[in-house]
Amino acid sequence: MTILGIETSCDETSAAVVRDGKLLSNATVVQLVHSEHGGVVPELASRAHQKLIVPIVDEALRKASMDKIDLDAIAAVHGPGLIGSILVGLSFGKAMAMGLGIPFIGVNHMEAHIFSNLIDDPKPSFPFVNLTVSGGHTQLVFVEDYFQYELLGETMDDAAGEAFDKVAKMLGIGYPGGPLVDKLAAKGNAKAVNFPRPYLEEGSHEFSFSGIKTSVLYYLRKVGFDKAANRNEQFIADVCASFQAAVVDVLLDKLLMAAKKYNVKDVAVSGGVSANSELRRRLKAETKIHHLNIFIPKLDFCTDNGAMVAAAGYERLRHGFESSLELTAEPNLQLR
Ligand SMILES: Nc1ncnc2c1ncn2[C@@H]1O[C@H](COP(=O)(O)OP(=O)(O)OP(=O)(O)O)[C@@H](O)[C@H]1O
Ligand SMILES: [Mg+2]
Repeated sequence: MTILGIETSCDETSAAVVRDGKLLSNATVVQLVHSEHGGVVPELASRAHQKLIVPIVDEALRKASMDKIDLDAIAAVHGPGLIGSILVGLSFGKAMAMGLGIPFIGVNHMEAHIFSNLIDDPKPSFPFVNLTVSGGHTQLVFVEDYFQYELLGETMDDAAGEAFDKVAKMLGIGYPGGPLVDKLAAKGNAKAVNFPRPYLEEGSHEFSFSGIKTSVLYYLRKVGFDKAANRNEQFIADVCASFQAAVVDVLLDKLLMAAKKYNVKDVAVSGGVSANSELRRRLKAETKIHHLNIFIPKLDFCTDNGAMVAAAGYERLRHGFESSLELTAEPNLQLR
């Protein structure tokens, strides 16, 4: 069975081919048009997807040495995300499936992020606990089996990636913020500023990152930081490292707590923030101490990509699932 996966929920246009559970290709374009605006502009994102979708699908097929007539099914994300962006990949995928007379499978983008650890071996065994930390979500999920999810907790305000991006903006270091904070933090002192760790009530699986973000803002105001004038690299690096340490502490502790409560041996992380080098380092070290197996996607599969969509679509197809061509885009689609 050969399946094409299409991802267009935000600002990456991506397509991938999976055959019999094995990834054959993945082609991704990160849209550059947003960087001068300091954030994703929805209208520009959907226009860029329209321009890129045909070349990206062609590239994925070419890299897999496939022709479209070799495909057995097509999967595309139908939510959550930006409606105009989702519609491009979803409409393209449905039209292509209809033209080829093959099944179409709508994939939930948050399910796809969980599947980013199920693309290549080694894979986590069910049941496992997955933490998705991305630009729009922070979700702790008990994954009992294929497509059996229990959402244990999520963020009550900002997503982890969003907090990284906003702190980067306050510091005037550029966009997208996460990778830049990560890079600068490597040169900083994580103990320079003691930002709060919002654990919420005892045993809570929920998250809150707006408090940490606001503490960074108040701290910068208190010391009279002016992002236009201050180019004190060490000061900026120290703030990045201290902020990052606070976020990583909370993410790690809540993941470990859920693993213990649900008595799992395997834990996984996914989403753009799982590319964070400090999070990856701490996850490897702490899970070892707790005798847990940790699964972290390859860097290409942390941020949005077609491979995770193709992997989820492949398993759905294998389990007899097919979507109607009436399926519509759902910007607030929940994981269920
Ligand atoms: N090395 C890194 N350290 C911290 N954050 C990072 C790193 N790399 C990427 N990010 C963050 O990851 C986010 C993008 O991740 P992703 O593409 O998974 O999110 P999204 O698809 O926009 O959101 P969602 O999946 O919730 O719809 C951005 O907020 C970005 O700053
Ligand atoms: Mg995403």
